[in-house]
Amino acid sequence: MKRAIYQGPRDFTFEDVEEPKAGPEDAVIQIEYAGVCGSDVTAWTYDGAAVGIHGGNEFGHEFAGVITEVGSKVKDIKVGDRVWVNPETCKLAGKVACCECGGFSEKVLIEKAKVNYNVYKLPDNVDLKEAALIEPFCVGIHGKNAVHVKKSDKVIIFGAGPIGLCCLNALIGQGVKKVVVADVRDDRLKDAEEMGAITLNSTAPDFMEQVEKIFGTTMTSFGPAIDIDVFIDCAGVKPVMDTILKLAKYEARISIVAVYKETYEMPLRLVMAKRYTITGSCAYDHKDALEAISLLEKKNTNIVKLITHVFAYDELEKALDTASDPESGSLKVMIDYTM
Ligand SMILES: NC(=O)c1ccc[n+]([C@@H]2O[C@H](COP(=O)([O-])OP(=O)(O)OC[C@H]3O[C@@H](n4cnc5c(N)ncnc54)[C@H](O)[C@@H]3O)[C@@H](O)[C@H]2O)c1
Repeated sequence: MKRAIYQGPRDFTFEDVEEPKAGPEDAVIQIEYAGVCGSDVTAWTYDGAAVGIHGGNEFGHEFAGVITEVGSKVKDIKVGDRVWVNPETCKLAGKVACCECGGFSEKVLIEKAKVNYNVYKLPDNVDLKEAALIEPFCVGIHGKNAVHVKKSDKVIIFGAGPIGLCCLNALIGQGVKKVVVADVRDDRLKDAEEMGAITLNSTAPDFMEQVEKIFGTTMTSFGPAIDIDVFIDCAGVKPVMDTILKLAKYEARISIVAVYKETYEMPLRLVMAKRYTITGSCAYDHKDALEAISLLEKKNTNIVKLITHVFAYDELEKALDTASDPESGSLKVMIDYTM
């Protein structure tokens, strides 16, 4: 079998290796679809170590496929099962980082395979291409669950990249009616609109007026304020947090999903006085994974629209280049191992 080994920026090698062999408690998956994540892009264009992808190691971590071998002690998983694998738990803790678990290899060993821990069986109506979206979808789902979004909440997401759009679809799937997505890129706002969001360009001179028009105002202990309950930051830049703090009403909830590359000086007196709840949302939990699979099964979101490009496995380099090119219009670039 082939596996892809990260060597450094714009450099990987395909290696021919022996197929992994399942020990008594393990399973082996043959990958059918794998997505390129933003961290793969960071490794490809800039520095793998910054995202836990080190030279000489496998990479790729958004994948789904079919079980080809199970150990004698593995319960409830059989050869032929169609599954999504949780990259956070598929290798023994501390041994291999999540981003190095081998999503760009033809087969992956799942250590101590267990249903609903590292192996999630897929409903019949969820195909493996959709299932390869479960990982980023979980990140978006956790982004809203971290601040306990209710159906009646009014929500604004900053950032219409793949993660912001996963958040949007998570909210749509939950039945949240009023969701605005703000970005600086009109092409991405178009994608968000097609998925069901009300969209705003956050650089528009009348941005604040437009936000007020969409959400309306409410009376708070601090006087009238724009009526937004939840802010989800999927952009991670200073102007966004400045805007959030300018907009946020008394007792607003703020979920930070984005990775801030620069330190942000948070006005804690304001946070105290306005009783803000600011929650970091990193990765996801088992409950988020079940929610992602259930939303895919119900088909009540537009998450599949995230897939903009599909490449064969031997075109991995082209796939990484496309995902790294802001001009490509890519959201989720997918590798199809069956092509
Ligand atoms: N918390 C986690 O577990 C987790 C997991 C994966 C990714 N992330 C992070 O989530 C963030 C989003 O990921 P992505 O893949 O969608 O990234 P991305 O870079 O594709 O998307 C970010 C979007 O923010 C927009 N943006 C920039 N400045 C803005 C502004 N002033 N106003 C509004 N929008 C603005 C960009 O135009 C872009 O569309 C990144 O920081 C990523 O590192 C977090």
